Amino acid sequence: MPDRVIDLRSDTVTHPTPAMREAMYRAEVGDDVYGEDPTVNRLEAMAAERLGKEASLLLLSGTMGNLVGILAQTRHGDEAIVGEYSHIFLNEAGGAAALGGVQLFPIPTHRGTMDPRQVEASIRAENVHFPRTSLVCLENTANRDGGTVVSVGDTNAVAEVAHRHNLRLHLDGARLFNAAVALGVPASTLVERVDSVTFCLSKALGCPMGSILAGSADYIKEARRWRKMVGGSLRQSGVFAAAGIVALQEMVDRLAEDHRNARRLAEGLAQLPGLAVDPTAVETNIIMVHVADEGTDPQEFVAAMAERGVKVGSPYGPRIRIVTHYQFRAEDVDVVLRAAEQSLGLVHA
Ligand SMILES: Cc1ncc(COP(=O)(O)O)c(C=O)c1O
Repeated sequence: MPDRVIDLRSDTVTHPTPAMREAMYRAEVGDDVYGEDPTVNRLEAMAAERLGKEASLLLLSGTMGNLVGILAQTRHGDEAIVGEYSHIFLNEAGGAAALGGVQLFPIPTHRGTMDPRQVEASIRAENVHFPRTSLVCLENTANRDGGTVVSVGDTNAVAEVAHRHNLRLHLDGARLFNAAVALGVPASTLVERVDSVTFCLSKALGCPMGSILAGSADYIKEARRWRKMVGGSLRQSGVFAAAGIVALQEMVDRLAEDHRNARRLAEGLAQLPGLAVDPTAVETNIIMVHVADEGTDPQEFVAAMAERGVKVGSPYGPRIRIVTHYQFRAEDVDVVLRAAEQSLGLVHA
């Protein structure tokens, strides 16, 4: 086993940067349930401004951000339209339904993008038999589709349909800044027409924890109640909010480097017989690799990579997710390609 492990299972595996640790150590704190933590207040104000929203709220995780984000704008028995491969639908333990009584109605997406006509067709008519559709949830970047980006135009087209039918639009922007950097637009432009948006500090931005939910001042006031109800209101949370401030100041623009590394790695992997990768589909920091060779077992490939010091995601069928992040350096691309060649038996270790 090599000395250094390259961990590409997710961008959540990153450790706080030295600047974050320093800021956490020095953070000025207070009791955030009383609204008295100056560092949290500063982060929430910065995040709201960055997104062009009136207010924002710090939560523990992306899952909590989506849960509180949904519950604060729906009623028990409502229905929310979501993408069929969305994190909210597949990976949040059914929280909206279990804890909020909100039924999720999954519709197909293409690389994360929803067809506005399909959204419109999925809105329930007023009828005593039907739940009330009150929310649409988009995801940007679309994780399961391989970090693909939903454009400003496609986001606004869904917002137009939602608002015309008096629905609200929530955006799970766990990797919103990756989308913004890839598109070369400010994050605020991407979320201008959405009513609520979450982004994660703990993913590509490198923080140990935390997500932000943003929207109008009234909506965030309501969300603050729901955060309390699910046990997510903390006390001296400035200790981790301080890392979030560093993330917004220092970690956003550099995401372009993760995207370049992902593209280069995908181009290299695409050359290897036994793997199928479309480098042009790599829009941000996520690569989806298909183990294409019948003779190669995806589990065995993952295990062989791990033996060579490279951790990649557990397979979904033949698909393996690889995610770049700030702890993965340009020179690591060749190390991973070499490990892949060896794992596929193309060269000897
Ligand atoms: C698109 C998306 N939304 C939400 C989440 C949930 O974030 P957390 O793991 O912080 O709960 C994730 C986590 O990977 C995600 O990829």
